[in-house]
Amino acid sequence: MSAKSDYQQAEKRYHILTYGCQMNVRDSEVIAGLLEGCGYHSVADPKEANLIIFNTCSVRHSAENKVFGKLGEITAWKRKDPSKIIAFGGCMAQLPEVRQILKKQPVDIIFGTLNIHELPGLVRRAEEGHVPVVQVWDKEGAIIEPLPSKRSGGFSAFVNIMFGCNNFCSYCIVPYTRGRERSRNPQEIKKEIEALAAAGYKEVTLLGQNVNSYGRGLEDNIDFPDLLNMVSEVKGIERIRFTTSHPKDLSDKLIGTMAQNPKVCEHIHVAMQSGSNRILKLMNRGYTREHYLKRALELRERIPGVAISTDIIVGFPGEREEDFAETLDMVEKVRFDSAFTFMYSPRSGTKAAAMDEQLPVEIKRRRLHQLTQLQYGIALEINRSLEGKCEEVLVEGPSKTDPSKLTSRSRTNRIIIFSGPDNIAGETIRVKITEARTFSLFGEIAR
Ligand code: SAH
Ligand code: SF4
Ligand code: F3S
Repeated sequence: MSAKSDYQQAEKRYHILTYGCQMNVRDSEVIAGLLEGCGYHSVADPKEANLIIFNTCSVRHSAENKVFGKLGEITAWKRKDPSKIIAFGGCMAQLPEVRQILKKQPVDIIFGTLNIHELPGLVRRAEEGHVPVVQVWDKEGAIIEPLPSKRSGGFSAFVNIMFGCNNFCSYCIVPYTRGRERSRNPQEIKKEIEALAAAGYKEVTLLGQNVNSYGRGLEDNIDFPDLLNMVSEVKGIERIRFTTSHPKDLSDKLIGTMAQNPKVCEHIHVAMQSGSNRILKLMNRGYTREHYLKRALELRERIPGVAISTDIIVGFPGEREEDFAETLDMVEKVRFDSAFTFMYSPRSGTKAAAMDEQLPVEIKRRRLHQLTQLQYGIALEINRSLEGKCEEVLVEGPSKTDPSKLTSRSRTNRIIIFSGPDNIAGETIRVKITEARTFSLFGEIAR
């Protein structure tokens, strides 16, 4: 390598700030791969980077606020050192009102969720000083692949199986920021997973906004359970996870595949959102509480030990005390292993944002508190029932909170911390649970 290119490489340092869901985590891996292909290398400290990329989320107001807070901090650095390049992408970049705000900020590149593959060219233009560079498609084209990527590492990898969403739940911005639903070609998915296995990955998580509708619109006659079986043929991949499932599309066939295929983990994330039929209808969710409960009971009956996790929104417009009580009732009936709980946040352009009877924040806050207290109690009870039992775990490596211990994940997606030798990271072993907490378990290697 010549001295000049050494110098250039040292000059090109990037840092990615990733917000939001697994889709964005995965997109950031692709962004990293593309930038490394242009001679950039990653730095852990954003202060040392000369290219800072925001990969943003707009699912709730709080998510956008976090991004704007950080943007304020980083644009202040840029005002001191104008050679820094700031790129702004992800779901917020898709929204015209956000782009309007960004016009007044020293942001060099704005790129949409459908334009990630164009990043090398956009960065080059910014390096040459043609700023601001704005490239945001509002209509999806064909899926572009393969794209390079630099994975976050470890033994577990995210794999996109589809992009976008067609469901238009009335509160949700995602269909506007990610475009219509497109499924990836199954052979491309399998090829990617074979390469992951060859690189030492043991677990894959298949990603989509509604994985149960995988395959719609493809030439191949394939559905999501077929894809699970196909992926399970890849040697070296020991565990398969997927997220997220929509209750309206959760089929008997999927439950059967989860029950029968030993590589498919006994965990499913199925967002319930509300326990009230009236609110579910206003949310445009396409199912009833009775349907949800029936599916949950079938999952529990046919897949021994299955963990069910969910998302719940409180304070949707017009949610009355009796609707909220029905949500609490469903939480008690289903007994979720874990739940992400949110206060409804109006997103401009969505149907729900224009609905009457928006609730005051005090009511939302009180309901959220009541719901989380109930759910934490249930999660702790379920976890305590595991004390003394053995779980199969995939060892991830040193625990972040206590590096003298190892952290691992059970098939049911529980975090289990235990003492053991460093060299077992990546192995699947059995651990006996000795102590349960709400969000994690402690254990010891089973003999
Ligand atoms: N496609 C996934 C959800 C992706 S968004 C699914 O349907 O399972 C993740 C979660 O954020 C949603 O399930 C919902 O609970 C929450 N969410 C989405 N929009 C929201 C809003 N406007 N206010 C509050 N929570 C919201
Ligand atoms: Fe949003 Fe509904 Fe699509 Fe999930 S299924 S991404 S909640 S519109
Ligand atoms: Fe994900 Fe947030 Fe976009 S949840 S799809 S990054 S709006």
